[in-house]
This record gives sequence, structure tokens and C-alpha cells, in this order.
Amino acid sequence: MQEKLLEKFKELFGADGEIRTYFAPGRVNMIGEHTDYNGGHVFPCALTIGTYGVVRKREDNKLRFYSMNFEHLGIIESSLDDLKPDPAADWTNYPKGVIWAFGEKGMKITQGMDLLLFGNIPNGSGLSSSASVEVLTGYILKDFYGCDVTNQDIALIGQFSENKFNGVNCGIMDQFAIAMGKKGHAIFLDTATLEYEYAPIELKDAKIVISCSNKKRGLGDSKYNERREECEKALEEIQQYVGIKSLGDLTEEEFEKFKSAIKDEDRVKRARHAVYENQRTIKAVEALKNNDVELFGKLMNESHVSLRDDYEVTGIELDTLAEEAWKVEGVIGSRMTGAGFGGCSVSIVKNDAVDTFIEQVGKAYKEKIGYAADFYVVEIGDGPVRLA
Ligand code: GLA
Repeated sequence: MQEKLLEKFKELFGADGEIRTYFAPGRVNMIGEHTDYNGGHVFPCALTIGTYGVVRKREDNKLRFYSMNFEHLGIIESSLDDLKPDPAADWTNYPKGVIWAFGEKGMKITQGMDLLLFGNIPNGSGLSSSASVEVLTGYILKDFYGCDVTNQDIALIGQFSENKFNGVNCGIMDQFAIAMGKKGHAIFLDTATLEYEYAPIELKDAKIVISCSNKKRGLGDSKYNERREECEKALEEIQQYVGIKSLGDLTEEEFEKFKSAIKDEDRVKRARHAVYENQRTIKAVEALKNNDVELFGKLMNESHVSLRDDYEVTGIELDTLAEEAWKVEGVIGSRMTGAGFGGCSVSIVKNDAVDTFIEQVGKAYKEKIGYAADFYVVEIGDGPVRLA
């Protein structure tokens, strides 16, 4: 694969100079959804699928980008003097945004680049193909351009670029999971403090299966920002009565005590999800530490129900994937993952049930939704790396 990418790079951009190859993973969140911008906990892991980048530094200030996933767009050109979001620049707004963000943080990039990308994450699937491109770009600026940053800085700068350059008010989860990924481990991250802990995921007799709904979504045009605003408003209402910094500060009991401060029924539901999901995530990681995978799975199922009924970000596609999964014997837990409104579900499935799972859920999905879902048995991988 790497050979093919290098060949294509040389064909498009020529063969001279130092050419390097990098990789950054995608991510899946096991539990802790829509908690990261509410000061709660998340539990994501990096995957072995992700984005490959072949890159060369230029002597001038030109930026030339090409994606093998969007070949019809051809080479998209820009320059370091023109780091502004532009709808016509399509996916290149992600690497451009990161280059811009480094400048905002006092690390102005003065040499252009030729960059060819290829991602084997299904696009728009909710496995963070965009954060993967952001972290990849940040890692190139660190490793090749010599910017003095840690991987955690790359995550924060990636999020900053997504918020300020690409207009999506996302939390820190995706970029953090990708930049800090560790093989075989999920990351238990407290988004209020950025304290984190690696927890081994040892599923001896089970696998992680991703079911992709093939309902495309872009975060920008989803209701993502709206949900975030609803939670912020609910927090302000509760803060009239109690001095908390975020919804993640509340236990379930405290929430029940203060929820009457919230003046709108929809906002009560949004905030309830944020509080309960955070507590569920803490319990789920505890369960895993106690080797209680069954309880972990049960909490995953509860997470989906809460995202469906209280947060209302699932939709018929993700509900069908989860609800059909729950019917299959050997499924330990199943829930939507990522922002929702389309994208994927994540399931823990006993080894000997994986084939039945794919067949049964696939059949029911096609019958109900009218088109097919895709299934991926995934492995947990490391963060960004230079390959050559
Ligand atoms: C998207 C965002 C994350 C997080 C999830 C929902 O993936 O980028 O920051 O909010 O949605 O948990």
C-alpha cells in the first residue's frame, strides 16, 4: 500500500527532495458520548485503520494537496498566505486549518508542502476521519517541520482548528484519542482536567465490531452545535442554584435535585444524558477493571438508549443497528458511537457469534432501511507514526 501511495505522489508531484510517509489512526469511542464538551469522561481508542500521508516540504509557500479518496477533485492548491476556510477547498480545510492553528499558537509555518493522503476509514462514518487528518498534519509539522509540540498539544491544536477554522464546536475526544492512542488500550480521559489513564481492552473471546450505517453526515450540518448550546444553557440554569463548573460535576442524585432549575423539557433531557452518561462511563471503566465485560456491555446498551431517548441523536439507522444487535446471542453490548445522526455503531461480540451477527444485523438493516450496512472487525492501534 505504502508503495502505491509513494508512486502516486511521485507521479503527481515529482520525485525530488526528501519524501516522508506518515500514518494517523481513526478512533472509536467505547462509551462516554457527548460528554466531552460537558466536562465529563470519555473512553475512546485509536484504531489500526486511519490516514496515510506522503509529504514533502517545499521551498516556496505553496500548499498542494491530493486525496486518493477524492481523486475527482484533483490537486487542490493554496498557499501559506491564504489560510482562510473556503468551501471550495473541500477536505483540504482540515490540513489548512491545522497549519493556520500552529501559526495562531506562535509556530508560523513558512515552508509550503506537497501532501498526498489516503484514508482507509470510511468517510463520514463517525470514526473521525477528519480528526485523523488533523492529527496527521500536526504530527508532520512536529516531526518533519520541527515544531516543538507534544502529542497532547497536537490534539489541542487540532481541536482548536476544528472549532475556529472549520466551525464545528467539537470537544477534545477525537483528536486526543488519535494523538495519544496506544495499542490494545482505550483511554479513560477526564475532559475537565485532561487527566487520563490507559485501560487495557482484553477481550479474549470477543471482538470489537463496527457497523457502518452508510448514512452520511457531516458534523457541520448536523445538530451537533445545537446540542452543545442546549447543554450550555441547562448548565447556566443549574448554576443559578449550585456552584458547578460543568454538567460533569454532578452525580445522578444531584442532577435529580437541581433539574427543576432547567426551564425547558428538551434541555432537561439533554442535561440528564450528559450527567448519566458521564457516571455510566466511570462505572463502565470500573467494570472493565473488575473483568466484568458483561456489565460493561450492559452499560453500552444503556448509553444507546439514553442517546436515543434523551439526547435524540440516533435516528432510525443507528437504532436499527443497535436494536438488531441486541437480539443476537453472543452480543455483549452495542451502541451508536461518535456524534450520531448517522455514522457507526460499536459492538462487542463473542468470537463465535461474529458471522451470525454480521449476517443477521446486515439482513435486518437492509430490509428496514433499504440499503446495506458495512461491517468491520477492528483492532486497537497506536497513535501517529512516521512510516518511512
Ligand atoms: C464528535 C466530536 C467529539 C464528541 C463526539 C460525541 O465525534 O468531535 O468531540 O463530542 O462527537 O461524543
